[in-house]
Amino acid sequence: MEVSLNAIITIFFFFLITSSVQSSTEIITRFQQFLQINTAHPNPKYYEAADFIISQAKSLNLGFETLEFVKGKPVVLLKWTGKNQNLPSILLNSHTDVVPAEHSKWINPPFDANVDELGDIYARGSQDMKCVGLQYLEAIRRLKTSGFQPIRTVYLSFVPDEEIGGRTGAKKLTESEIFSKMNVGIVLDEGLASPNETYRIFYAERSAWSLVIKATGSPGHGAKLYDNSAMENLLKSIESVRRFRASQFDMVKAGLKAEGEVISVNMAFLQSGTPSPTGFVMNLQPSEAEAGFDIRLPPFADPASLEKRISEEWAPSTRNMTFELRQYKPKTPTDDKSGKAHISPTDSSYAWWKLLEKAVKKANGKLGKPEVFPASTDAKYFRDQGIPAIGFSPMASTPILLHDHNEFLNQAEYLKGIQMYESIIKEFTSYVGSDSDKASREEL
Ligand SMILES: *[C@@H]1O[C@H](CO)[C@@H](O)[C@H](O)[C@H]1NC(C)=O
Ligand SMILES: *[C@@H]1O[C@H](CO)[C@@H](O)[C@H](O)[C@H]1NC(C)=O
Ligand SMILES: [Zn+2]
Repeated sequence: MEVSLNAIITIFFFFLITSSVQSSTEIITRFQQFLQINTAHPNPKYYEAADFIISQAKSLNLGFETLEFVKGKPVVLLKWTGKNQNLPSILLNSHTDVVPAEHSKWINPPFDANVDELGDIYARGSQDMKCVGLQYLEAIRRLKTSGFQPIRTVYLSFVPDEEIGGRTGAKKLTESEIFSKMNVGIVLDEGLASPNETYRIFYAERSAWSLVIKATGSPGHGAKLYDNSAMENLLKSIESVRRFRASQFDMVKAGLKAEGEVISVNMAFLQSGTPSPTGFVMNLQPSEAEAGFDIRLPPFADPASLEKRISEEWAPSTRNMTFELRQYKPKTPTDDKSGKAHISPTDSSYAWWKLLEKAVKKANGKLGKPEVFPASTDAKYFRDQGIPAIGFSPMASTPILLHDHNEFLNQAEYLKGIQMYESIIKEFTSYVGSDSDKASREEL
């Protein structure tokens, strides 16, 4: 009797261990399958990715629909209906596209999703951000298995084209009638990996501007020293831009500001010269010269003062210069009420921050200080609708390799991230709060 009971217990534990090993193998296999779908620009296999997501949704008994705001650019929307549909919903957003990879520079092929002996999964999109998209689903799988029922409805959006600006992806979704009917109260979107054990978290992002300045001047002999040549006029501007760039970068170097809190300016191209069959004509000073810059502006920086600097110092008409400026301007300025969602974790979105902190802590994770995302993400389109969006990709102890060669994520870190989302989704969907979130946002 006793022997057989022991045997049963042994078999039972053996079953428990093997089934958990098996399921984490299955989880990694599903991640690999998603990574193996080549969704790199310029020809992302969006329909293959959509089919894969929908197959996952079916296996999880989630509602699903494919929206095609732009032909060939499917947005997959999944739904886990909550018990109280009057409460604002939770939206878990991720993009399905990835940036291209230079295959020859990778130690493992970027769309094979090989796992090395350390458990590192190599693939384009392993950090940015197929990991997050599938972690949401795996977290829901665990919650469903445990019998958990959400009070708030959870939506998942898998959007295209984030890597080419999102105007044909997330932007279309946020401007749609379907979206307004979803009554979203909070959005989770992508963040960045953290090299240490503290997760990074983002409450806003910098706006991307692109600036081209153009100088004209009299052409002349290459041997002649004279004022106001196009090159000289442009170089004066470049010197001025470089001084400004250094002043911003110095604050980062001195540890006074984080990367996302300063204005970055980087030269993207420089163009001039008179072509000759062998290169450039050397004894001629050209009559035109231009330079292009990528500029990133933190949400609390004053756009007007930078515009003034551009027209007075970087491309002054008194130096015969012109410029073209393309700006992304957040719809809700930072100083108005709803605009607080852009910059501050201390307004009505505060409840979500507290919940997120609590959830990550419960899952034994550590959160760093909220930061401004240094580049652009789709989160801005949600924030433009006045909905708070938090950038979070649970990857600790991981080098930041998004858009880099040999992008990878360790499988243990991936599995840990699933537990973070399990905890977050549980906390968010169980929150009944003082809701009318939206009403309270308007009151503030
Ligand atoms: C982790 O790294 C970030 C920079 O990415 C830094 O701000 C933070 O202080 C570090 N945390 C620890 C615990 O070392
Ligand atoms: C601007 O262009 C005019 C006309 O070509 C020229 O006379 C003047 O010297 C130029 N000024 C500068 C600062 O380049
Ligand atoms: Zn991304």
